[in-house]
Amino acid sequence: MPILQWLNKEEAVVKAKHCAYRLLEEIPELSYGDKDNQNLLIQGDNLEALKALIPFYAGKVKCVFIDPPYNTMSAFEHYDDNLEHSKWLTLMYPRLELLRELLHNNGSIWVAIDDNEAHYLKVLMDEIFGRNNFVASVIWEKADSPRNSAKQFSSDHDFIFVYSKNSEWVPRRLPRTEESNSIYTNPDDDPRGPWLPGDPYANKPYSKGLYTIEGPTGRVFSAPPGRFWRISEEKLRELDKDNRIWWGPTGNARPSIKKFLSEVSDLVPRTLWKKQDVGSNRTSKNEMRKLFPGQASFATPKPEALIERVLRIATEEGDYVLDSFLGSGTTIAAAHKMNRRYVGVEIGEHARTLCQPRLEQVINGEQGGISESSGWKQGGGFRFYKLGQAVFDEYGCLNSDIKFPTLAAHIWYLETKTPLNQCDSSAYLGSYKDIAYYLLYNGILGDRRPQGGNVLTSKVLESLPDIEEHNGKQIIVYGESTRLGESRLKQANITFKQIPYDVSAL
Ligand SMILES: C[S@@+](CC[C@H](N)C(=O)[O-])C[C@H]1O[C@@H](n2cnc3c(N)ncnc32)[C@H](O)[C@@H]1O
Repeated sequence: MPILQWLNKEEAVVKAKHCAYRLLEEIPELSYGDKDNQNLLIQGDNLEALKALIPFYAGKVKCVFIDPPYNTMSAFEHYDDNLEHSKWLTLMYPRLELLRELLHNNGSIWVAIDDNEAHYLKVLMDEIFGRNNFVASVIWEKADSPRNSAKQFSSDHDFIFVYSKNSEWVPRRLPRTEESNSIYTNPDDDPRGPWLPGDPYANKPYSKGLYTIEGPTGRVFSAPPGRFWRISEEKLRELDKDNRIWWGPTGNARPSIKKFLSEVSDLVPRTLWKKQDVGSNRTSKNEMRKLFPGQASFATPKPEALIERVLRIATEEGDYVLDSFLGSGTTIAAAHKMNRRYVGVEIGEHARTLCQPRLEQVINGEQGGISESSGWKQGGGFRFYKLGQAVFDEYGCLNSDIKFPTLAAHIWYLETKTPLNQCDSSAYLGSYKDIAYYLLYNGILGDRRPQGGNVLTSKVLESLPDIEEHNGKQIIVYGESTRLGESRLKQANITFKQIPYDVSAL
């Protein structure tokens, strides 16, 4: 497959692997509401933040929505948008790689972009997500009116590229709208309600699709040359008996098959998203003004209704949503109102001055944006984090301040490439593909001495939680050292791995 090349691409390709793996450190005074429902707002560079999320969220995120700087060569109030072209590609490549790792097998990623970088981004995403996982390029009508000062064209739209993690992904259908229902009518007062006359012909050859049929007035109809009836004569007569065939107001027109509104399903998503349905740039600017009256507005917010549509198609309640170029916090505000769980990452100070207070308002019952359409009242909460210490120092050695749950999640991910779902502070981390994993660290076995219980001895082996259940299974134990000889380890089917030497960075 042809791929994109640019100066320093090699650097971009290894960047995700080489970037520091950091802890997330909570700032409790900026967290708000019920903090235990797993919603996170993180201030920091999203490359390091995404890497920190991997051991906990890999394969869990149902929908990533990002709206990265478009590279419009502008300097906005809250961030700069003027990277040299190849630097922009180097910014995006490793972040998209990590986002892919975080996506659920049945997940999708949505990226807002405009003509400045869209066509390069498409090729980049083809490389990272696979060309056959490209789903659609949505056109969002962002402008309300033309910009007459434009030198050449006034741009009315942005793109939103949609890729799925695998090609089997099926978008959820959208609820029918008044507009989509309004084309159904009921000229014959059918008690089953409004209907649409459906085409009775098909282009595809059909062995039972060539016949002539007489209508109520005696007029005879056959399929037009080169086309076929889409149902057999027998079926057509059966539908006619049930008043499901329409022969026109006088009974003299060619038959059509009635499609009742009460029997059609919700709407398949389409690629043209109009401003009257999902809002425009003006809508989002107004939303910001209402949220932060008198304050310098964020230059490039998205309307909540746009995100609402994305989340309706890509997620259901309780699913994880991630936005790592959070801006003013629209994605997580909409996700909160729609009862999705979320992670938002923003590098700028506006993580604290816009995203955090915006979420507080939402939790307190803010009624702008999509509050009405999503039935939002109030409640919930989130934790605010910043990027903390590196888990490994510059020589690759484990930082001694690392706590048990962090090391447990890290080791679990290293071994299984899946996130550790629950870490209930037990030395037994769980089993994966018939291998049981144990971690002896931070005195997890209850021995309060600093190094207590971190060494695998015969006594420790006997006291390991659930150990007898793994008889005959392969067991991997991480610990500071072992006093068991090779033959004893072999006999118990144990592979011992030594902390910190056998614990590598991701
Ligand atoms: C176009 S704005 C997003 C707007 C957002 N969709 C909204 O509705 O407000 C892009 C944001 O990405 C942030 N950003 C840029 N580089 C980043 C990075 N490396 N890590 C985290 N955020 C970053 C910028 O500070 C800016 O706030």
